[in-house]
Amino acid sequence: MPPSLRLTWDREDRSFEAVEPDASLVARSAEQLRDWYNASENASMMDGSGEMSRGDVIEFWRELRAAGGRGFLAFVDGRLVGDADLRRIHDGAAEFALMIGPAAEKGRGIGRTLASMIHVFAFRELALTRVFVPPRRDNHRVRALNAYLGYELDESERARAFADGPDSETYSLAAEAFRAKHRAAWREVEVRR
Ligand SMILES: CC(C)(COP(=O)(O)OP(=O)(O)OC[C@H]1O[C@@H](n2cnc3c(N)ncnc32)[C@H](O)[C@@H]1OP(=O)(O)O)[C@@H](O)C(=O)NCCC(=O)NCCS
Repeated sequence: MPPSLRLTWDREDRSFEAVEPDASLVARSAEQLRDWYNASENASMMDGSGEMSRGDVIEFWRELRAAGGRGFLAFVDGRLVGDADLRRIHDGAAEFALMIGPAAEKGRGIGRTLASMIHVFAFRELALTRVFVPPRRDNHRVRALNAYLGYELDESERARAFADGPDSETYSLAAEAFRAKHRAAWREVEVRR
């Protein structure tokens, strides 16, 4: 297992942190994550299969790590606000997923900032060359976020392998395109062990 990492970025008077949780942090956060995963506005946009229990959340995080995925809990000024991960990492590529949990925290630039941090990690630290996202076709909110990050529609066979069936669109983002568009993030996001 790789050592757990912490990504930090202080931006616009807020302190953003993405922490790779150990089993005890997952256990402490599991009830909050369960409630966010199960909330209809999140569940309907994610590829989960029905209502999750606290144990399901713990199992999801255990499996993600066992499969070589890199998952992070997201904090703003020390408060847990959601999670993000890179999964199915292989051949220089991965799938990206993100959730900002509390309804009151959405639309305030948190998703955008945390997503940028995870992409710095993917491209600068892991040296991946391309990241894929398979949003549902009706996920209008994520469309603006993906455009901000630099994603473009990609219907290649390689991209469609990341789709969750015909209801998903597939987008991808190359390392150079991200780096050119997000120079401040590339420079300023810090990684600590
Ligand atoms: C998608 C999600 C991660 C966005 O996070 P967020 O913190 O709300 O987004 P941000 O505030 O950083 O905004 C990012 C973009 O989304 C747009 N956006 C935010 N709130 C919106 C809303 N209510 N309606 C439409 N667009 C919205 C913003 O306009 C922004 O784009 P812009 O800068 O071009 O205006 C979050 O809404 C979420 O967790 N949704 C449920 C899970 C999910 O859909 N995950 C992605 C699966 S692929």
